[in-house]
Amino acid sequence: MEEYSIKAFVFDVYGTLFDVHSVVNKCDEFFGGKGTEISKTWREKQLEYSYLRQLMGNYDTFYSITRDALRYAVKKHDEQLDKLSEEELLTAYIHLSTYPEVKDILVQLQDKKVAVFSNGSHDMLDPLIKKSEICDLFDEIISVDEIRQFKPTFPSYDHVAKILEVKPKEVLFMSSNGWDISGAKNYGFQTAWINRQNLPIEELNLEPNIVYQDLTSILEWK
Ligand code: LAC
Repeated sequence: MEEYSIKAFVFDVYGTLFDVHSVVNKCDEFFGGKGTEISKTWREKQLEYSYLRQLMGNYDTFYSITRDALRYAVKKHDEQLDKLSEEELLTAYIHLSTYPEVKDILVQLQDKKVAVFSNGSHDMLDPLIKKSEICDLFDEIISVDEIRQFKPTFPSYDHVAKILEVKPKEVLFMSSNGWDISGAKNYGFQTAWINRQNLPIEELNLEPNIVYQDLTSILEWK
């Protein structure tokens, strides 16, 4: 662990603070046995569309991308979805539950700057966090939508450092997404990969500073 005084703890949202598994349950409700496959395609396409739109310079909000990815996933698995059902599935993204350890850890970080940083647009992030048990525990809710640059671009993480008025090395960035950790490391943040799915480290030559199974041990960085 490198010795820097961390001034800000910055968290990714989906899969890191909030468990997207309830989206799978919702898909099972609508598509029976195909729910898990459809939600997997949905998440993969949601991320793929953010990368493709970034590379093409054709930005759209993560909410729109999430809707488009759902439409693709439904078609790919030969299913149908009417407007009402589509809306109901999309609302699953603003009713996610936090992982068990999250609130207790955030409460112990209140003497530091604490922020979320997400590809999610504010029309997704704000209601999600407002309805949750951790709604009052953040100094900032930061979305890439403010600069229309998706993670893992350099400017997206730079936006976070500017808003929090900290140097990159003074930030501990946490994400369950290996590609997001690589982007944050590339920018210059200290990185803790929250490897909830026990995946291998990405082969991008951008190793995380440390790997944890969940958020419990991040208090070591205080
Ligand atoms: C986010 C997604 C990509 O919150 O996990 O940015």
